[in-house]
Amino acid sequence: MSSPVLQAVAVKKHYRLAKHEIPVLRGIDLSVQAGETVALLGASGAGKSTLLHVLGLLDPPTAGEVHFDGQRVDNLTIGQRAALRHRHVGFVFQFYHLIPELTALQNVLLARMMTTSVWQFWRQRKQAKAAATALLEQVGLGDRLRHRPSELSGGERQRVAIARALLAEPKVVLADEPTGNLDSTTARGVVDLIFEIQRQRGLAFLLVTHDERLAQRCHRIVRMQDGVVVS
Ligand SMILES: Nc1ncnc2c1ncn2[C@@H]1O[C@H](COP(=O)(O)OP(=O)(O)OP(=O)(O)O)[C@@H](O)[C@H]1O
Ligand SMILES: [Mg+2]
Repeated sequence: MSSPVLQAVAVKKHYRLAKHEIPVLRGIDLSVQAGETVALLGASGAGKSTLLHVLGLLDPPTAGEVHFDGQRVDNLTIGQRAALRHRHVGFVFQFYHLIPELTALQNVLLARMMTTSVWQFWRQRKQAKAAATALLEQVGLGDRLRHRPSELSGGERQRVAIARALLAEPKVVLADEPTGNLDSTTARGVVDLIFEIQRQRGLAFLLVTHDERLAQRCHRIVRMQDGVVVS
């Protein structure tokens, strides 16, 4: 744990709706070190998801700077940001965001398609399939490879999403209420899995949650209120 892998410096984010400016992030300073786990807590509407999207290179800030692995990234083009994101950032969302028509294996493989050209993907399809299969086995879904999301339980869907987030071997995993849609026993299994993989791989992990007990499992807790960090 030494150098920040993610850093927000005086980050502001406004949304514009018709003529109204809605200030959502109002000057955020936050660093996440390599290998560090950070929980982000705060009331609904505090700006947690917005901050996660800005730090994960999904959305640019309105003002301030975002640094990824020592590189300033807020001023990159959309394409450059997307390339970095696909290569180095894994996302896990509350509602999984899986493609319903694709099998578990295909959903995971999609992450590889995003990082290579069609030609490269075709040439490396056997290795990609082997890597995706190995990840699904690691998350306990070796016997569910050909199931579509509708043929999987909630916890199993989230495990597919975790495998998908890991295929590119990211440096950072950002999770937005990953257990918000699961019963407590299933949630515990999913969280245990995430922390096990985080430790194995030395990933930086930023977790948005409303669950204090879950937050306590992280190295550090950051609390947000009305678009600022309060502790
Ligand atoms: N695309 C958008 N356009 C306009 N306003 C938005 C947009 N996205 C979010 N907001 C507003 O920004 C504020 C923060 O939203 P955000 O989703 O970051 O909150 P949150 O802390 O993740 O809340 P929750 O715990 O409910 O998920 C909210 O008031 C929301 O209405
Ligand atoms: Mg949210």
